[in-house]
Amino acid sequence: MTIITRSVLGVALGVAVVSLSGNGLGAQSAADVQKAVDAAYAKYRGLQEGKNADYIPALAKVDPNLFGIAVVTPDGKVYSAGDIKTEVSIQSISKVFTMAQVIQEQGLESVEQRIGVDATGARFNSIIAIEGVRTVVGTGAPEMNPLVNPGAISATSMVTGKTADEVWKKIIGFHNDAAGRPLNVLQDIYKSESDTNQRNQAIGALMLAYGYIKDNWQQAVDLYTRQCSIGVNAKDLAMMAATLAAGGKNPVTGKQVMDAAKVPGVLAVMATAGLYDDSGKWLYHTGLPAKSGVGGGIIAVSPGKFGIAVVSPPLDDAGNSVRAQKAIADISNALGGNPYVAKP
Ligand code: DON
Repeated sequence: MTIITRSVLGVALGVAVVSLSGNGLGAQSAADVQKAVDAAYAKYRGLQEGKNADYIPALAKVDPNLFGIAVVTPDGKVYSAGDIKTEVSIQSISKVFTMAQVIQEQGLESVEQRIGVDATGARFNSIIAIEGVRTVVGTGAPEMNPLVNPGAISATSMVTGKTADEVWKKIIGFHNDAAGRPLNVLQDIYKSESDTNQRNQAIGALMLAYGYIKDNWQQAVDLYTRQCSIGVNAKDLAMMAATLAAGGKNPVTGKQVMDAAKVPGVLAVMATAGLYDDSGKWLYHTGLPAKSGVGGGIIAVSPGKFGIAVVSPPLDDAGNSVRAQKAIADISNALGGNPYVAKP
């Protein structure tokens, strides 16, 4: 926070302008942020735990040694270590931005009423979770969420447009705005997942049967598969996280991608369901809304302070990048990123 006193026309007005446009980290200097990033990179670079996802065959071929960390503050400064240029598929991290787009266009209640905002406590592609929750059709409110596959495919189906192409342009457009640059689909990943996504097709059909998807579940599954194949690097992901940290405004382009008032709803779902069945454990240690993808990326958001992303493909049993979880937790704790910690 910067305090500026001004004197206009020689008259001492004693106006104190409190600027909130600093780096968002209070007393932390740029050197402190870079030091925390470098320390985490050095500490976890040699860690050999976890395994690339292989249920999508193309993901097994990605270099497991790829490791990049990026932090972006609301003033648009980027801090990084390792490889922040190589692209991986965004995978489930796209679920955040498609959910955000639906919320932006149709309001917070749209997602709450059609899909729900409750954690399932189950794996991301659990079919038992679909059977275990109350449905839209029939009694009660839905108890799914847009960050597990059934809710995410449903959220994609909610994006409006006359043709699949029109819907896609909106989905990729929102991702581009959050990243601050035009992104592309990684065609090898898209093909590999399209050839092997029978489970998601079953999920899409079930969601239609239960009324979460209104029509054309095949289109929803295809567009969902495409959004999961968007190529991003660690810097893109950190910029997307920072857009959420800065109240929906991309810190570099200055574009207001979503209304600030709607961002807390997005962050709440990330906090409760972003790391799937390990979301509670993650929140317990970091306090940060976050989202993982089986491509190896994780984003996390410290509101008003920073967006952070790590890319490292080897995953743990829950489908979350091992190095990314550890690096983000260390950096955030070093920077006082946990929003539950009271500042004196
Ligand atoms: O639908 C799938 O299985 C993938 N496209 C995305 C899953 C995913 O990223 C789960 N993340 N941890």
